[in-house]
Amino acid sequence: MEKNSVYMNIKSRRTVRKYLQTAVPEEVLLKCVDAARLSPSGANMQPLSYVIVNDQKLLKPVFNTLSLAGYLPDYRPKEEEMPKAYIVILVDNKIARTPNHDAGIAAMSISMVAYDEGLGSCILASVDRKKLGEILNVPEGLAIALVVALGYPAENPVVETVKDGDIKYWLDENGVLHVPKRDLQDIVRWNNCPF
Ligand SMILES: Cc1cc2nc3c(=O)[nH]c(=O)nc-3n(C[C@H](O)[C@H](O)[C@H](O)COP(=O)(O)O)c2cc1C
Repeated sequence: MEKNSVYMNIKSRRTVRKYLQTAVPEEVLLKCVDAARLSPSGANMQPLSYVIVNDQKLLKPVFNTLSLAGYLPDYRPKEEEMPKAYIVILVDNKIARTPNHDAGIAAMSISMVAYDEGLGSCILASVDRKKLGEILNVPEGLAIALVVALGYPAENPVVETVKDGDIKYWLDENGVLHVPKRDLQDIVRWNNCPF
């Protein structure tokens, strides 16, 4: 398998919630948004727009609108581990046909380009949208779909196999995050074979 194939990158990318405090270059953030711009969109309506947040003064207020790692309440990053940038995905629901699908695809494009650039990322849906909208002056007509937190990784989560149906990620004694994934054989069916 080719080392940098899309498959290998998808396989090795993990959600990162703890970051180094190195700034993310602006051209990398723009490249991530450009990848989202070029991503598929239902009926090609392209209802999404993006707010890049990298102003040091905004990073903490934005962070405070997010809920991270719901299964691990004690896992919240410290101030010196917070994301160094955000891409906030906005949707114009007046024109969107498939807003949630479009936003998810855009978030994945951002995450994969970020990963290719050596960044870690976390897609977030648990967002205090009202508060974040106020912080970023988001106009009434646009809804906050998802937030992608970004930064150079300060942790290296690993994949596990789901055991006994338990999909909750967990921390080991060294603080390494383990992320269970369902087995391929448990989620794939060919043609009309019985479930
Ligand atoms: C649509 C979506 C919403 C998510 N929302 C959150 C969130 O609000 N907070 C969080 O910490 N992680 C969030 N995540 C990250 C997931 O928890 C993470 O993808 C999952 O645990 C699997 O880990 P992996 O990305 O390393 O494979 C979200 C992921 C997706 C795709």
